Amino acid sequence: MAYLFEEAKIAYVKGLQVLDSRGDPAVEVTIVTEGGGIGKAIAPAGASKGKYEAVEIRDTNLKAYKGRGVYTAIRNVNTVISNALIGLNAVNYRYVDCKLIELDGTPNKSKLGVNAVTATSLANIKAASDTLGLPLFVFLGGFTARTLPVPMMNIINGGLHAGNELSIQEFMIMPINADKFSEALRMAVEVYKELKNYLKNKYGALAVNVGDEGGFAPPMKETAEALDALVESIKLAGYEPGKDILIALDCAATQFYDSKSGKYRIDCKELGKDELIKFYKELCERYPIFSIEDPLHEEDFEGFKELRSLLKGKPKIIGDDLTVTNIERVKKAIDVGAIDGVIIKVNQVGTVSEVEDVIKLVRGEGLIAIVSHRSGESEDVSIAHLAVGFSTGFIKTGAPARGERTVKYNELLRIEDWLGE
Ligand code: PGA
Ligand code: ZN
Repeated sequence: MAYLFEEAKIAYVKGLQVLDSRGDPAVEVTIVTEGGGIGKAIAPAGASKGKYEAVEIRDTNLKAYKGRGVYTAIRNVNTVISNALIGLNAVNYRYVDCKLIELDGTPNKSKLGVNAVTATSLANIKAASDTLGLPLFVFLGGFTARTLPVPMMNIINGGLHAGNELSIQEFMIMPINADKFSEALRMAVEVYKELKNYLKNKYGALAVNVGDEGGFAPPMKETAEALDALVESIKLAGYEPGKDILIALDCAATQFYDSKSGKYRIDCKELGKDELIKFYKELCERYPIFSIEDPLHEEDFEGFKELRSLLKGKPKIIGDDLTVTNIERVKKAIDVGAIDGVIIKVNQVGTVSEVEDVIKLVRGEGLIAIVSHRSGESEDVSIAHLAVGFSTGFIKTGAPARGERTVKYNELLRIEDWLGE
């Protein structure tokens, strides 16, 4: 082991511009250790990003890719980052992450670019685990990390992720009555297939085009239409809504909030905060909803608290744009009593260590942590390992469609197989 540890010294760091699932340039980083361990990671990208997220660097001054290129971020990887990391031991990932944070020196990773930092931090833990010959989740969580996450599968897309008129961004299903992950995945896939038939019959063939996260993007206008479609498909697949499968929503409410009027534009109506809270309460009385993410805009800690007090933990109120995997914002949300849990996205903050700290804080408070993909993804499977390694118990990684989503589900199947009974 001591010998292997020495072998984990970083020998090579290289950035490359690749593409994400929307055809936008993305940062890929490869790290190789002295012992030949290889780690490769690609930073994802959000569309409905929180205002307080760490910021990525895009080449807005260049014509190439309409200013969406990431050559500057890649240059940062190949110069300052590479110079600082070579010779450090990849196994000491918290030290490596500290180095990245220190090199960047800004509160939001704007100097190096969170896309450069994220891909480097993830490539580093992969290079470390590869050198030690361990699966990544074991490297992160040890041999006691054996909990596969419940998939929160986004099967109807709206908001910024789809070309329809649904204000709410994500309508998810969560199989809860399964003995193991592969069973939960099968149940969710069966519902997805039933939903496809249901939508085709009711709205025509165009309704089964998919959005950014692989969920269908039917021409619906009202929230209840989407929820009815989920409930019907769950039943058609032979399951009982509320017992076998629950529903989860990501409202991403900042996207339909008008800060000038202070109103939310939803279901062809303009609702004030109190009306929106009432609207959610009614939905929760009608449908088996486990959680509501970002029900109000990203500044409204008090509004989250009000809704949470009204709902009394059923369903759970989850912060994403509100908390942005930022420990200070998460602490504030906890202190205010605004949330029952948080979404965890590596590229909202940049390093695995910062993610780990947020997960520990949240779990320590008895709240839930949901590891999540972004709407712009790639073949990178890191989040499958983060969910198991940090035993979060929940993952959001889209519909069982589009390679960049299924690649995470397939990795979880491999992890389940590796763990055995
Ligand atoms: P994004 O959305 O990746 O487009 O930011 C995902 C989410 O809001 O959970
Ligand atoms: Zn969200």
